[in-house]
Amino acid sequence: MEAYPMASPPPPPHPLPLIQHFNHSEAHHDGNQSFLSSNSVFLIVISLLVVVIIVVGFLVLMIFCRVKSRKHSNISSCNSSFRKGSFDRSLTPVCSTNGNGSSYSPEVRSCIYGGKLGCQLQVKQRRGQVFTYKELELATNGFSESNVIGNGGFGVVFRGNLSDGAVAAIKLLHKEGKQGERDFRTEVDILSRLHSSYLVGLLGYCADQHHRLLVFEYMPNGSLQHHLHPSAKNPNNKSLDWRTRLRIALDCAQALEFLHEHTAPAVIHRDFKCSNILLDHNCRAKVSDFGMAKIGSDKINGQVLTRVLGTTGYVAPEYASTGKLTTKSDVYSYGVVLLELLTGRVPVDPTRPPGEHVLVSWALPRLTNREKVEEMVDPALSGQFSKKELIQVAAIAAVCVQAEADYRPLMTDVVQSLVPLIKNNVGASPATPSRVEVSVVS
Ligand SMILES: Nc1ncnc2c1ncn2[C@@H]1O[C@H](COP(=O)(O)OP(=O)(O)OP(=O)(O)O)[C@@H](O)[C@H]1O
Ligand SMILES: [Mg+2]
Repeated sequence: MEAYPMASPPPPPHPLPLIQHFNHSEAHHDGNQSFLSSNSVFLIVISLLVVVIIVVGFLVLMIFCRVKSRKHSNISSCNSSFRKGSFDRSLTPVCSTNGNGSSYSPEVRSCIYGGKLGCQLQVKQRRGQVFTYKELELATNGFSESNVIGNGGFGVVFRGNLSDGAVAAIKLLHKEGKQGERDFRTEVDILSRLHSSYLVGLLGYCADQHHRLLVFEYMPNGSLQHHLHPSAKNPNNKSLDWRTRLRIALDCAQALEFLHEHTAPAVIHRDFKCSNILLDHNCRAKVSDFGMAKIGSDKINGQVLTRVLGTTGYVAPEYASTGKLTTKSDVYSYGVVLLELLTGRVPVDPTRPPGEHVLVSWALPRLTNREKVEEMVDPALSGQFSKKELIQVAAIAAVCVQAEADYRPLMTDVVQSLVPLIKNNVGASPATPSRVEVSVVS
């Protein structure tokens, strides 16, 4: 009996018949197939060609757009800065300069300040607006006499109301020539890169044709000079008290500490003095005027050899005699300001009796003399301080104005010495808010 059909499973279907079938059908339509094949190949080639053409076209278009935008980027980013009024500059210089800003078109000129410090200082935050002359003319009521708040070596300072409602101090440069242009650039370069609550903020600038203006945050209490040394032209009958003076001393020390030790390379202010210390509504101090500032070198104590610039009475002796500038030159100037806060005297006063003309020479021997130190204090401060505090402040001033630069302290040391004095004085009168630096350049 043949069990085969039942017992053994049916053999698995052989793939061959299918192939055979396929082959059969292929064979069956052979002539047709070869026709379709060449048709398909033709179609595939055509579609491939179309795709390639589209891709290549797209790439060419992209490259074209890129090149075009790159060509304009130097100008358009500056253009947009100019129009939108933002300092959106790259760290590396995007605009070449021939050293003479006035030869640029207004658009290009708006970014002539992108170069010098770009590689040296790192930017954490940028702010600032580019104003047209017209805008600032409008803000100051046509630069009217009634808006004038000061007059310095740079030019006239006006109070202005900006279109967004902010009040600003607007400096109109009157210095012609290279030096004025250099100061202007330096100020814009440095202040647009360094942001600290201890520095007067640069809101923007104007480099419209030959006009050069700087727009600063407005400091309602004016300069320390005005408070310490009022003049007949600029009277002020309310003397600053001891606690406020200490606070100002600490604010200034922190400003210089920021420049010298929190900035790489260090920035040397070079014109640190009472008229460049401005006071806000709480009489908290901020440092201004960076037109003469110098970027320190990374080599040998950050020393740079430069032309001697500064204000008589504030310039460190070694800088005055050799032109070698270091952060210690600022420390000396700081010591002079501390002496002014302590004594109420100006750095150089030819109207005083012989031996008292130069504040540092007169003060130095008294600063470290426990008996004489009280005699030198501003009479307006009598009864407001303890002898211990006075001796401490006098010791700080004495070490800052040392003739030998190496003996002068770092600003960090000055800050550390002043902080406990401020803490002791906090309860003396209503506390003003403490400040935090908003951005640090490392
Ligand atoms: N941001 C500001 N807010 C309020 N007042 C200001 C501001 N900037 C300057 N001033 C006022 O304008 C005056 C003149 O300032 P400016 O810096 O032009 O000259 P200076 O500091 O007196 O002298 P120098 O040119 O030697 O620096 C200051 O003393 C101050 O009273
Ligand atoms: Mg000034």
